[in-house]
Amino acid sequence: MLRKAFYNIKNNSSSTFICSFYNKTQIRNNQIVSLNNNNNIRNNSSLSNFDGVVFGAYKDGSLTNSVSKLIPENLQKNIQEQLQFSGIKGKLGEIRLFYGIGGSEDIPKKIAVVGLGTNKNNNDEEFQALERARKAAAIGVRSLREIGAKNIGVDVMTHEHGAAEGATLGLYSFDSLKSEKNRKSLVNIEPIGVSSEESKSSVKEELTWNTGLIYAIAQNNARKLAETPANHMTPTHFVEEIKSLLKDISNVEVIVHDKEWVIENGMNSFLSVAKGSIEPLKFLELHYKGGEEGKKPLALVGKGVTFDSGGISLKPPAKMSEMKGDMGGAAAVSSAFYGISKLGLPINVVATIPLCENMPSGRATKPGDVVKAMNGKSIEIDNTDAEGRLILADALYYTSSTFKPHSLIDIATLTGAIFISLGEIYSAVFTNSKKLWKKLLNSGKITNDPFWRMPLNEGYIKSLKKSTVADLVNVGERGGGSCVAAIFLKEFVSGLTTTTEDNNNNEKEEEKGEGRIISIDEELGDADKEKKIRYAHIDMAGAMTTSKDSGYDVKGMTGRPTRSIIEFARNISKDQDFQ
Ligand code: BES
Ligand code: ZN
Ligand code: ZN
Repeated sequence: MLRKAFYNIKNNSSSTFICSFYNKTQIRNNQIVSLNNNNNIRNNSSLSNFDGVVFGAYKDGSLTNSVSKLIPENLQKNIQEQLQFSGIKGKLGEIRLFYGIGGSEDIPKKIAVVGLGTNKNNNDEEFQALERARKAAAIGVRSLREIGAKNIGVDVMTHEHGAAEGATLGLYSFDSLKSEKNRKSLVNIEPIGVSSEESKSSVKEELTWNTGLIYAIAQNNARKLAETPANHMTPTHFVEEIKSLLKDISNVEVIVHDKEWVIENGMNSFLSVAKGSIEPLKFLELHYKGGEEGKKPLALVGKGVTFDSGGISLKPPAKMSEMKGDMGGAAAVSSAFYGISKLGLPINVVATIPLCENMPSGRATKPGDVVKAMNGKSIEIDNTDAEGRLILADALYYTSSTFKPHSLIDIATLTGAIFISLGEIYSAVFTNSKKLWKKLLNSGKITNDPFWRMPLNEGYIKSLKKSTVADLVNVGERGGGSCVAAIFLKEFVSGLTTTTEDNNNNEKEEEKGEGRIISIDEELGDADKEKKIRYAHIDMAGAMTTSKDSGYDVKGMTGRPTRSIIEFARNISKDQDFQ
C-alpha cells in the first residue's frame, strides 16, 4: 500500500497507521509504521478508490497539470464552466464543491476545487509553492470531511510536500477525550499526481509527499502533547508517550532519568521547581546517531513544565488552564526529534527535556529561597513563576558541558512578554550566531512557521545581579522581560557564561552592555568569529496557541515550531559548518 495516510485508527492491525488523535491507545500509534520505505512512488492513475477529491485551479481557470493529465477532457471542461458560473475568482484558498458531475463510476461524487492564485508555471520560489499547496490542500480536505468524505485523493498542486503537510495539519483534531458522537469523522488521504522517484533530480524535489507527511505528523504530535490536559500529561505520561513514539526508529536511544540522578548531578535549580508537586519529575534524554561517529551533535533542549500554576507566586485564574501547554517547548523538541530520526537525516542529535509541574504546596520553593545550580552559580528565586529559566538553567549546563554540541537550541514557552512583543505570528530567537540565525530564518520561511530575531545582549544581565545573597536573581526589571530571561539562560551555557573560568573575556563581554553605540551584529556578538558554541534560545510563548481555525490552523495548541526545527536539521545536514 503506497502513501496512504490514515487519520483513523479503529484497529491496530493495519500496517499504515499514521495519524490518530482519538483515544489513548490510538494516540500511542501516532507514528508512521510503513511509510513507503522503498521510495518507489507511483502516480495515482485512478480516482476510483476515493469518495472525494481535492483539485487545485489557477486564477485563469486552468486545473493543475497533475489533475488535467488524469481526468477526461469533458470533465475538465465541465468543471471549468461550473467554476465560472459559481463566480470564483481563483484566489488562493477560494473553494467550490461539486457533486456527481463526473459522468462515470470512476470519478468520485464529491469534488472540491480550491483556488491556487496566479499560475506561475513552476516559477514560484519554493516557499511560495509550498504555502499555496499547504493552504489549498487543507481547505479542500476540511470541506470534504464536513460533507462526509472518508477516502480523499489530494492533488499535489504546486508542491507535493506542501500538499501533504496542509492536508495532514488541516485534518488534525484533538478528540480523544470526547465521546464518539462529538468527534470529527475519520479520513484517509492519498496523493494525486505525485512525481515518480526517477523524475526527481533537483534539490527542490527533496521535499516530497512523504517528507510532508513526516513534518506534519510531527507537528500534530506536538499539538496533541501540548493540548492534552495536565492530569493526562504529567511528566510520567510524557516520557511514556515519547518512548512509544520513538520505539521503532533506528539509531535512537531514549534515556529517562529520575530524581536521584537529578540530585546526584547537582541540578538544584530544576529540583527547586519540581519540589512543590507530588508528581515525580523526569529528565528525558534522547540520542539520535544518524551522522558519523564522533561528529559533534546538534543539541535541543525543551522546557517541559506540564502545568505552571506559578507556584507560591500563584498566577491569576484567568487563562491559567492554558498553562497545561507550558511543555510546548518539550513537545516541539521531542516531536522534531521524531521527524529528524524518521527522515534518517545524516546528523547526530541530542535532545534533553526537564519535565515537572510548578505547584504551590507546603514543600514548594518560597520567594527569597536560594539554590545552587549545576554550574555552581547561586540563584535567588524572587518569583516562583519564573520557573522555566530555572529548569532550563540546569538542562542547558548539563547538555552543553556533557555533549559539546556545535549548536545548542532551547525551545520554551518562557515569557508572557514575548506575546506582547510578537503576538502569535513569530517565535522569537535570541542567538549569539549570525550563521545559526540565518539557518533558522530560512527554515521558518520554508515552513511558514517563522522566527523573528531578538537581542541577546549583556546589558540585560544587570538587573539580574542585584541580589544581596546570591550570584543571580531569577527575575529582573520588567522592561524587556523576554530579553532578560534570554540573558539569564545564556549564563548557564558552558563556554558562554560571563562569570566562570571557562570564559576569559568576562570584562569585554560585560562592557558590551554599557550602552556603546555599535551595530546590531557586533552588539549581538558572533559565535563563529569568536569560536564559541552557537546558542539560540527560542521563546515561543506567543506562538504556543492560535485562535485561528481555518486552513491548516486548528484552534488551540499549535505544536510550533516543530516543522521549522526539522527543516533546520535537514538544512544543516548538508552544511559542513554544522557537523
Ligand atoms: N509559562 C510562563 C510564560 C507564559 C505565559 C507562557 C503565557 C505561555 C503563555 C512562565 O513560566 C512565566 O510565568 N513567566 C512569567 C515571568 C515573570 C514572572 C518574570 C511571566 O511571563 O509573567
Ligand atoms: Zn511561570
Ligand atoms: Zn512557565
